[in-house]
Amino acid sequence: MRILITAGGTREYIDPVRFISNASSGRMGYALARAAIKAGHKVTLIIAPTAKRPPSEAKVIEVETTAQMFEAVKKYFERCDCLIMAAAVADYTPARPAKTKIQKTGKPLTIKLKPTTDILKWAGGHKRKNQIVVGFALEDKAVRARAEKKLKEKNLDMIIANTAAAIGSDKSTVQIKIAGREWLKLSQASKATIAQKIISIVGSL
Ligand code: CTP
Repeated sequence: MRILITAGGTREYIDPVRFISNASSGRMGYALARAAIKAGHKVTLIIAPTAKRPPSEAKVIEVETTAQMFEAVKKYFERCDCLIMAAAVADYTPARPAKTKIQKTGKPLTIKLKPTTDILKWAGGHKRKNQIVVGFALEDKAVRARAEKKLKEKNLDMIIANTAAAIGSDKSTVQIKIAGREWLKLSQASKATIAQKIISIVGSL
């Protein structure tokens, strides 16, 4: 299969030198890419900035912002059999980023944010027959209910729910739901082990 994977945390610029981002390490996305390569799949990896090095066997496309990630996903989506959105994509971006560096005034500063495009939802709405779209959900409560809502609303084939404890960690506990099937809970394991399991499920779909 040709598998398109996104990883890392997007950056949304406030001014030319400052941005809003998140604590994603990119580990899950990289682990998925490694597992997919090991299983014999062809991998294209779209990465937002992370400190880690991507697997050398993957075709790597580097992006920074959610808008750039969306452009890259649109470019490669058509030729993939499966998209796995493991990136921590910013839900909001500054409405009017400053063109020059913002000067401090000593007074409170308000930054207005506007929603970004939901890339996963776009993919769920544009997938062809036999194309698999997989999303992640990071939930701190009502994990299954909230993740299931995303599975339906974004027209996904599979959703992987985890908690904030997974961020930056080498281990994770995930629950997986394939559309139309029961929840599957994996016991705590390394991201490499979880990734292997996810890739094997994707292959079976
Ligand atoms: N995602 C995306 N585009 C966005 C935001 C998120 O493709 N603009 C993807 C992420 O890569 C992930 C899933 O959607 O696969 C996460 O869904 P989201 O609705 O953003 O949920 P959370 O960020 O987990 O939480 P919240 O409910 O707070 O939005």
